[in-house]
Amino acid sequence: MPGMPILNILDHPLVACHLTTLRDKNTPPSEFRQTVNRLATLLAFAATQDLSTAEAQIETPIQKMVGRTLLNRIGLVPILRAGVGMVDSLLNMIPTAEVWHLGVYRDESTAEPVRYYDKLPAGDPVDVAFVLDPMLATGGSAILAGKMLQDWGVKKIKMISIISAPEGIKRMQEALPTIEIHTCAVDRGLNEHKFIVPGLGDAGDRIFNTTG
Ligand code: PRP
Repeated sequence: MPGMPILNILDHPLVACHLTTLRDKNTPPSEFRQTVNRLATLLAFAATQDLSTAEAQIETPIQKMVGRTLLNRIGLVPILRAGVGMVDSLLNMIPTAEVWHLGVYRDESTAEPVRYYDKLPAGDPVDVAFVLDPMLATGGSAILAGKMLQDWGVKKIKMISIISAPEGIKRMQEALPTIEIHTCAVDRGLNEHKFIVPGLGDAGDRIFNTTG
């Protein structure tokens, strides 16, 4: 029997404060980017808790000892564009990770995801993939990315999003129940334009300073 889909919501005072900065419309792009990085680091910490490690023999300046090293091949999978803003934080925590970019944008009139870039190879998948995107709205982009990674053969996939809508979480859990979701907040819902409310606006535009 498969277990319940995993949803991990980071309930932490630092997360709450950084999220407030992120949501504030007066936060300029430079501070927005920094804040995305801070929250992505905290999400990385939470989402990597069950990574497997193996023993590693090392020598400290004092004596020999057995330490630990990551056992699995890890892939970071930012969804272009906004997910790119989270890559540095994750790479900082997992320096040996591979980065596989996926281009998916949401059609503005239909809110359906459109795939425009991927260079996933035919075989030899990573062991664990972390999908990075600051926003999970309808879930369309994340589901498409998750399916692309499953088609590649990735066995363990985790979605890391800073804010999520309940609609997107539900859809994702129904479509791909084995994919864990790690998020900082679950917002009230989507408005008629499928934007997250109260949300933070368009993360891609705010990260890359392309608003209006
Ligand atoms: C935003 C966001 C997600 C997607 C979420 O990207 O970064 O990728 O929409 O919506 P969904 O859950 O309904 O699919 P957008 O399409 O605005 O592209 P961008 O990152 O290039 O700005």
